[in-house]
Amino acid sequence: MQRIHNAIQLTGLSRDNLADLYAYPTDPQVPWVRANFVASIDGSATSGDLSEGLGTPADKTVFTILRELADVIVVGAGTARAENYGGARTDPQLRRALYDRGIGGHRDGASPPIAVVTSSAALDPGARLFTETAVPPLIITTSTAPADRKQQLADAGARVVEAGGVAITPQGLLSALADLGLQRVLCEGGPHLFGELLAADAVDELCLTTAPVLVGGTARRISLSAHEFRMPMVRRHILLDDDGTMLTRWTRR
Ligand SMILES: NC(=O)c1ccc[n+]([C@@H]2O[C@H](COP(=O)([O-])OP(=O)(O)OC[C@H]3O[C@@H](n4cnc5c(N)ncnc54)[C@H](OP(=O)(O)O)[C@@H]3O)[C@@H](O)[C@H]2O)c1
Repeated sequence: MQRIHNAIQLTGLSRDNLADLYAYPTDPQVPWVRANFVASIDGSATSGDLSEGLGTPADKTVFTILRELADVIVVGAGTARAENYGGARTDPQLRRALYDRGIGGHRDGASPPIAVVTSSAALDPGARLFTETAVPPLIITTSTAPADRKQQLADAGARVVEAGGVAITPQGLLSALADLGLQRVLCEGGPHLFGELLAADAVDELCLTTAPVLVGGTARRISLSAHEFRMPMVRRHILLDDDGTMLTRWTRR
């Protein structure tokens, strides 16, 4: 492994090396919230309205290991709808091995559920989220969301959790997940949900892929919030791929 000021060449890293670089704290007693995003060099969170348009092989490699490590994958409903989310496909053997090492994964090798945050519960019960998944998705919603929609999602196989009245606060979200024993949180977006979590100081780390492309246009960046804030972060590492992709890991100072 060649290491220059925390910069590491991605080629040659094994899955174990990557798992070490992205290990969650062992035995977290409170939720550890990691966000993972990809952006273009000029700061766009999408290309062709999807993050997929920015993906590179290196981004996919890290995206995959982050899912292998997580207890739960959290997304806003906007992302679940736009990206037509299905269940996570993870490797049971690797999940067990990561669990045994105390850095993530799952005791029985089960996949992490996708948890969708939604105040409206306006999700299609026929979507991949419900039909293409090895574990039931979690719908984290409100007591005021229409009861018939919540029932339809439960009938489609989801576990529906009410974690707020009209909206869900970051604390409400994290305690609902903690109540289910889900402490190693991976938030895959989108910008609205991430901005809310950041504004509430609820994010422990950001994994950010910079894709080697400029896209222009008017697309959003990775965080959006009502008010500006300033949160100093510490760079933990940069992984470099030959195609120009940069994968950074930042933690709260
Ligand atoms: N570059 C990347 O890595 C990346 C990652 C993810 C997404 N994206 C892109 O970002 C776009 C979607 O992002 P977005 O910011 O529009 O949507 P988002 O943050 O994924 O979802 C927003 C929705 O989530 C629900 N929500 C958020 N906060 C809530 C709260 N506190 N309480 C209750 N519900 C809450 C609401 O759903 P309801 O409307 O159902 O109530 C809200 O409309 C897509 O184009 C996607 O491709 C990019």
